[in-house]
Amino acid sequence: MSVTVVVGAQWGDEGKAKVIDLLARETSVVARYQGGHNAGHTVVVGTEKYALQLIPSGVLYDHVTPVIGNGVVVDMPTLFAEIDRLESRGISCAKLKVSSQAHLIFPWHQSFDAISEGNLGENKIGTTLKGIGPAYADKARRVGIRVGACVDLISFAEQVRQRALIENDEVIHAGGERLDVEAIVEQFVVFAKRLQPYIADTIGLLHDAVEDGQDVLLEGAQATFLDLDHGTYPFVTSSNPTAGGASVGSGLGPRLLDRIIGITKAYTTRVGSGPFPTETLGEIGEKLVDIGREFGTVTGRRRRTGWVDCVMLRHAVRVNSLTELALTKLDVLDTFDEVKVCTGYRIDGELVHGYPDRSEVLAQVIPDYVTLPGWKTELRSCRSVDDLPAEAKAFITVVEQQSGVPIHIIGVGPERDDVLDWTPASIFGGKS
Ligand code: GDP
Ligand code: IMO
Ligand code: MG
Repeated sequence: MSVTVVVGAQWGDEGKAKVIDLLARETSVVARYQGGHNAGHTVVVGTEKYALQLIPSGVLYDHVTPVIGNGVVVDMPTLFAEIDRLESRGISCAKLKVSSQAHLIFPWHQSFDAISEGNLGENKIGTTLKGIGPAYADKARRVGIRVGACVDLISFAEQVRQRALIENDEVIHAGGERLDVEAIVEQFVVFAKRLQPYIADTIGLLHDAVEDGQDVLLEGAQATFLDLDHGTYPFVTSSNPTAGGASVGSGLGPRLLDRIIGITKAYTTRVGSGPFPTETLGEIGEKLVDIGREFGTVTGRRRRTGWVDCVMLRHAVRVNSLTELALTKLDVLDTFDEVKVCTGYRIDGELVHGYPDRSEVLAQVIPDYVTLPGWKTELRSCRSVDDLPAEAKAFITVVEQQSGVPIHIIGVGPERDDVLDWTPASIFGGKS
């Protein structure tokens, strides 16, 4: 029995879904613990590509119970569109459970997201405009509506109407478009009715699974440096993707978390605004975008790209208590003559190894790199360490040594089987 957390160690899109998919082969329950439909999690199975936003990536396996935990914010229109899309492709969502304590997203949250971004102008966060921040703000203000409210449709309709009337005034006051309150009430009552069979006490369910000796996977969305507390504030999301958030957002206390896997690409990407020390503009940046297909799953935006940053990874190890890292998209570097690993930052010419506590400082640092020869070999068909060229092994070793935790899983392509064990026999056991 074990509880494993999969958490992004950078700024998102590290390939969390692919690692979840790999580990879910041996797992009974996969639970999302924060975020919402701002996430875009891709799993590639042969010629089939599944892009998931709200439903845990484990849904692709019949033996998995997918859970949307209490820490998630749920957009019902997106959830049902996703269920319909999956079911039309033969993937059953019948076992899906949605926490009664999760909060709901409503159209006014999306209005406020757009208004706030518009007001920020050039300083905008670059959010996904899905209403995530405003929904979490309502949760913190204690005026949010929870999934559990859908159980009683009459009282739910009244709660939505009351909230919508108040929010509508604020939307109009802030310069947004008037919402059709009655249309929203009518539409959301239909959604609420459809949600009813999925609503569950997911905290009890997860504890029962653990006590029953089953394996549980907690699927993070976003990432460490988008975390509301630990990320590059204010250029962050409004939840806690870090491992502490996995406890809060699932209800499984911290002592139950056995294995905490940080996912990092062999380089770095970021969507939206904010500091990015190792960002590479020009030819190298373009090449990473082209080969890595670095366009957002949710918004289609081009991702910013740069070299892998071990100062960030060391910080991710600390704030998440990472037990290991998974290194994905190594194959994207196949054609580079040389590859770089950031090992420290210079501030006013002085070398520092720690991660700055202020975003303003992070925006000023100059990265210090170790430059290594590229391997100039296609890695996609590699299935064991022995298949890897010496240069690729040297690169992995530097990242491993610099980050301070073992690397177990290496990604060498987008497909389910494009992985190898850096430490043999580690994928399922997590032990070296
Ligand atoms: P997530 O949000 O962390 O789950 O990651 P995304 O799904 O948004 O983005 C990762 C992208 O990289 C997806 O298109 C994956 O199919 C792809 N991917 C994952 N691992 C690898 C890998 O090892 N190599 C390559 N080339 N692509 C990968
Ligand atoms: P996955 O789970 C990458 C970014 C947005 C923006 C900031 C705040 O696929 O890794 P929000 O809409 O959350 O208020 O936007 O966070 N962002 C992501 N970037 N991957 C994601 O999810 C993201 N979810 C949000 O681009 O900069
Ligand atoms: Mg993504």
